[in-house]
Amino acid sequence: MNVEGLKKIAGEKAAERVKDGMVVGLGTGSTVKYTIMKIGEMVKNGLDIVGVPTSKATERLARKFGIKIGELAEYDSIDLTIDGADEVNKNLELIKGGGGALLREKMVAYYSKYELIVVDERKYREIFGSFPLPVEVVKFGYARTMRKLESLGCKPSLRLEENKAFVTDNGNYIIDCSFGKIENAGDLEKEFNMIPGVVENGLFIGLTNEIIIGSKNGVKVLKSRE
Ligand code: A5P
Repeated sequence: MNVEGLKKIAGEKAAERVKDGMVVGLGTGSTVKYTIMKIGEMVKNGLDIVGVPTSKATERLARKFGIKIGELAEYDSIDLTIDGADEVNKNLELIKGGGGALLREKMVAYYSKYELIVVDERKYREIFGSFPLPVEVVKFGYARTMRKLESLGCKPSLRLEENKAFVTDNGNYIIDCSFGKIENAGDLEKEFNMIPGVVENGLFIGLTNEIIIGSKNGVKVLKSRE
């Protein structure tokens, strides 16, 4: 099976968790796209849910597939969120933000009763942190913020799109920070967020309940001990 096939089996498996009446957080990216398409099919067959999108792109996709859309602020909690990730490990820690949606994704995850992650097997890591950590920063003084991030042991680079700075749905920039290896992800998450000008970073620690991994041998599941 090719990578696209692995994403599809993971994404579609997760859609089976969606039940009538739920408020469902809809993640962003090319894996959860398969979940959203599947949910769209289920809605066509009578499923009644509200989706809370984590990006403008996901909102457009969900609307295209006939999913009712709600806003985060309308609900005290979200029943289930399904989202992708760029790296995962056995502790259910994640690096997210490859698509630039990390801030909204983290807000939606924070208010979710259950965070379910879908990835293909290439994203699983024994050694965490080879994917450059995306950090969302305000535009004001961003070059100074970058130097501060560098002083904390990474190689930062401003994310570009068509030769211009990439701008998030929230009007900010993304700095991708290469570490090579991250050992104390929980501390790093907090340390980065203490820097003025940093809005959020792509480390998701203690937010995930379960990871569905699409592998050549079928779907594998990693769960937190609860
Ligand atoms: C969006 O900003 C990211 O957090 C995505 O969830 C992540 O990059 C996974 O995307 P893919 O499923 O496209 O790899």
